[in-house]
Amino acid sequence: MSERYEGPLWGGRFGASPAEAFERLNASIPFDIRLAPHDIRGSIAHARMLGAQGIVSDEESATLVLGLETVLREVEDGAFSWDLSDEDVHTAVERRLRDLVGDVALKLHTGRSRNDQVALDLHLFVRDAAERIGAGLLAAMRSLVGVAETDGNLVLPGYTHLQRAQPILLSHHLLAHFEAFKRDLRRLEAAREAAGVSPLGAAALGGTPHPVDPRLTAEELGMEPFTNSLDAVSERDFVMDLLYACAVLGMHLSRLGEEWVLWTSAEFGFATLGDAYSSGSSIMPQKKNPDAYELMRGKSGRLIGDLNAVLITLKGLPLGYSKDLQEDKEPLFDAVDSVLAMLAVLPEMLRTARFHGGRMEEVAGGFALATELADFLAAKGVPFREAHHVVGRLVGRCEELGVSLEDVPQGELAAAHPALSDVPEGLLTPQGSVRNKISPGSTAPASVGEQLRQAKAFLETMGGLPKGQNGPTFRKE
Ligand code: ARG
Repeated sequence: MSERYEGPLWGGRFGASPAEAFERLNASIPFDIRLAPHDIRGSIAHARMLGAQGIVSDEESATLVLGLETVLREVEDGAFSWDLSDEDVHTAVERRLRDLVGDVALKLHTGRSRNDQVALDLHLFVRDAAERIGAGLLAAMRSLVGVAETDGNLVLPGYTHLQRAQPILLSHHLLAHFEAFKRDLRRLEAAREAAGVSPLGAAALGGTPHPVDPRLTAEELGMEPFTNSLDAVSERDFVMDLLYACAVLGMHLSRLGEEWVLWTSAEFGFATLGDAYSSGSSIMPQKKNPDAYELMRGKSGRLIGDLNAVLITLKGLPLGYSKDLQEDKEPLFDAVDSVLAMLAVLPEMLRTARFHGGRMEEVAGGFALATELADFLAAKGVPFREAHHVVGRLVGRCEELGVSLEDVPQGELAAAHPALSDVPEGLLTPQGSVRNKISPGSTAPASVGEQLRQAKAFLETMGGLPKGQNGPTFRKE
């Protein structure tokens, strides 16, 4: 090599080194270093393609690949070190490669730009993250089903407006969350699919005069090649797809978390968390706080923010790479880390909680059985509106007498409406009420049993899949 190349990747036309403050602002290495394994995998695929296409010699290609494999091992062993002057992960890896294999490393970037390179790294990261989140979510879903099986016969009030509405089975409630998580899996799968496109070979934006073969690199990485080089370096839709999936999943976790915050309060008294999943107060010795569920509620704000941040960064950007795109990484990493941290605790936290069936059942009845009476009248031919009115008056009467619907004297029932003189034994109890439902998907034990069977069959199909290159893949229903 006639002239020794040193300094930043783009240093050729510059007379001075970057100012320190600018270097700090410009550098992404403090956060994009975590892309290193993906960056190196992409570079290995690129180096092989360069050899296969005769752009570098077979020997050079082999040297590059071997060197990159060494760098990968160093990254995995934590032996890889970087410096702010590396600017970003791409430069850091190339610098280390040059240390290891010498100036042949300077040929690696032929037919490639950091623009298609960073886009590829992100695709690989998103694909991997979608799979890891999917696996974590499946573990939570298995746990929900497990609890629905062991404690499923307990009844609790179902709420509307956070007012006791009708008794429902605990298993029915838990399986409602299961359905939401199933839809989350579909969104994660969509993001994983969107990330399955390799931008490598797009170069800076318009392609390259070198005879690269984007199909070769894509194939080696288990991806499809891009169609349009300008789109390939400009788009971050797959990032937003994953952020959307995380935001919705986070919102679901937040609703579940809020319920548990309520359930574990003394006022509700429905459940107690396992000691390993709750924390105490530094001043009030009696406290047992549901911090993890509060954090699920709290982190949903950040997850929505992460999606917004990337949407707003992309909005108004002209096609082609702009440095703004560097801002896509921190929200993405934040969302993935947050979701994984929550999913890491949820399965065991669900399993180790104790339900207080007596307390739940005690408050599941009472006036929450009023609809049962109205439906009983309606089944006897009384128009539902009229039945509703009759039972409403009866509830008012019970309030005057200070009795609940379960203990209302026979005479009062008959006085409210003659057809109420033969209300079947047991109907006006929480268990009687859930058993009385016959519509599909309802809270009746037989219906919930069927929902449970379907949930288990679903998990069976997910668990029985062969592991993909990057871990488990999940199938659409
Ligand atoms: N650190 C950059 C990023 O995160 C890598 C791409 C740099 N490309 C460029 N043309 N400056 O987006």
